[in-house]
Amino acid sequence: MSRGGKVAQPQRYAGRVALVTGASRGIGRASAEMLAREGARVVVNYRRDEAAAAATVAAIESAGGTAWACAADLSVESDLVAMFGAIAEREGRLDVLVANAAATAFKPLAATRRHNLEKTFGITVLGFVSAVQLALPLMPKGGTICAVSGFDSIRVLADHGALGAAKAALETLVRYLAVELAPRGLRVNGVNPGFIETDSARLYGGAEYDSRVRGDWIARTPLGRLGDPTEIAAVIAFLCSADASFVTGQTLVADGGLTLG
Ligand SMILES: NC(=O)c1ccc[n+]([C@@H]2O[C@H](COP(=O)([O-])OP(=O)(O)OC[C@H]3O[C@@H](n4cnc5c(N)ncnc54)[C@H](OP(=O)(O)O)[C@@H]3O)[C@@H](O)[C@H]2O)c1
Repeated sequence: MSRGGKVAQPQRYAGRVALVTGASRGIGRASAEMLAREGARVVVNYRRDEAAAAATVAAIESAGGTAWACAADLSVESDLVAMFGAIAEREGRLDVLVANAAATAFKPLAATRRHNLEKTFGITVLGFVSAVQLALPLMPKGGTICAVSGFDSIRVLADHGALGAAKAALETLVRYLAVELAPRGLRVNGVNPGFIETDSARLYGGAEYDSRVRGDWIARTPLGRLGDPTEIAAVIAFLCSADASFVTGQTLVADGGLTLG
């Protein structure tokens, strides 16, 4: 116990630098806050929403942590190069890479345009491989990578064909990278969340989110509720920490039992 009766926060990330992509909202924000609370200096990546990224940084700082925001569209190679250049200059190292950001057009595959596929795969697949390649020169032995997948990779979900396929590729990349990077002393894992209550979940649910969609997903989830972003952040914080030192190449399903049925 610390002074004031509060339970002391473990400091599994003291002295470490972490990049969380898509950290302006949802799971990314919760992960950035959790890693910072455990001692990491956090780079808060976002694409457009500067105010939301600044709010993540402010929340981290007001909890006593250290963070800075860095805009980069992960589907644009030059943005990635610039972001990793900034990390090299400001931090000189990167211990943890959390590849969380995603975006897609929710449509049936028959109506999906080529540019929708390019954008979806550009972030989740090409952007992930490029980010790992750019991170490698900055990652010391003991570095960890965690990719955020989704249950659309293992179950068919209406209008999720493009994203589901990209997430399935992402999980395969996790396995290959785990083997390729093990000799460097790096671990690579993933987390596969169920239905987590975030802005994009509400967007996917559309106008009927509160009246129907939310209740439908609760009914389909054996634990009888939706997930909270902090519950995925906790899995990421575990997988990227020394507590998971013998775990690599795995994508841990954290879905309240949703995909068991
Ligand atoms: N929510 C769920 O139920 C659920 C379920 C399974 C898997 N997931 C996965 O979990 C991850 C996070 O989901 P979420 O619901 O927390 O996300 P979200 O609320 O949709 O937030 C997406 C984040 O990604 C950023 N982003 C989007 N496109 C980007 C790009 N091209 N380059 C850089 N950043 C970009 C956004 O930045 P801006 O705000 O600046 O645009 C934002 O910070 C995603 O990979 C998603 O597929 C979510």
